[in-house]
Amino acid sequence: MRVYVACLFPAPVLGLFVQRFGAAYNDTGAVLDTEALIASARGMDALVITVTNRIDKDVVAALPASVKAICTYSVGTDHLDLEALRAKGIAVFSTPDVLSESCADTAMLLMLGAARRAIEGIALVRDGTWTGWTPQQLIGHDVWGKRLGVLGMGRIGRAIAKRALGFGMQVHYHNRSRLAPDAEAGAQYHESLESLASHSDFLCIACPANDSTRGIVNADVLARLPAQAIVCNVARGDIICDDDLIQALQSGAIAAAGLDVYAGEPDIHPAYRSLPNVFGLPHIGSSTIGTRIAMGEMLCAGLQAWSTGARPANQLC
Ligand code: DGY
Repeated sequence: MRVYVACLFPAPVLGLFVQRFGAAYNDTGAVLDTEALIASARGMDALVITVTNRIDKDVVAALPASVKAICTYSVGTDHLDLEALRAKGIAVFSTPDVLSESCADTAMLLMLGAARRAIEGIALVRDGTWTGWTPQQLIGHDVWGKRLGVLGMGRIGRAIAKRALGFGMQVHYHNRSRLAPDAEAGAQYHESLESLASHSDFLCIACPANDSTRGIVNADVLARLPAQAIVCNVARGDIICDDDLIQALQSGAIAAAGLDVYAGEPDIHPAYRSLPNVFGLPHIGSSTIGTRIAMGEMLCAGLQAWSTGARPANQLC
């Protein structure tokens, strides 16, 4: 199988594709533009891409006929037109499950960082502007004992909920459908996002971005949060209406936000760079070496199984 890896993976991940498939790869470290991606795909059976490679219906139409499989190094698929890929008979593989725990760790980091004003604290230490302990310095908010609202109780949402119990939080959630009692693990289901918001001292977004979730965390939902609530996002930036969140952060209606993902990233709303109550990370949810290797292994195993006629669990279409 002729495989092209469109990005520069960490060496142990790249090694998997090179050793198993003799894969060619983009060694520039830069994101290929559409033209370059299509040119690199010529003669290839499979392309390995990331969330930075948008494969919309025009790109699908322009892909060379040799391409029969796309592997996305992500669990999210909002950068792919799955319908167009399916219609063209291109198999798609993703990386579910293996990144849930590291993304849930990142969600806890966001909650803690936002609640405890880590951005301001780090600045004091690093800038040399810290003049010593004072009783009023950087007073933040407790995480323990608070209500966590999880928007999207899939694999990542449930891993966040499990951790939150260890912090003594009470877990609430909203999902398309209610989970079975064992998967709920005591979390309280809300039929609407509005109801979830009114019970969430922390609102943590962990649902996929699609037509029914884009923009749903808007001014109306934010206004329902209890005073001094904290909003965190480990899913996709476009689930939040940036202007509405920024307004709530600036007015003090909510205390803080912890964000790992942003609409239009890396060209994020400039207010996120300067607001002191935004604890922002650069989309590193799954970025641990163990998880990144596991993601690569899952894609390689999926491709290999598919090439023998099997349908691996991580094949989406
Ligand atoms: C995902 O897996 O969807 C992450 O957001 C990027 O790897």
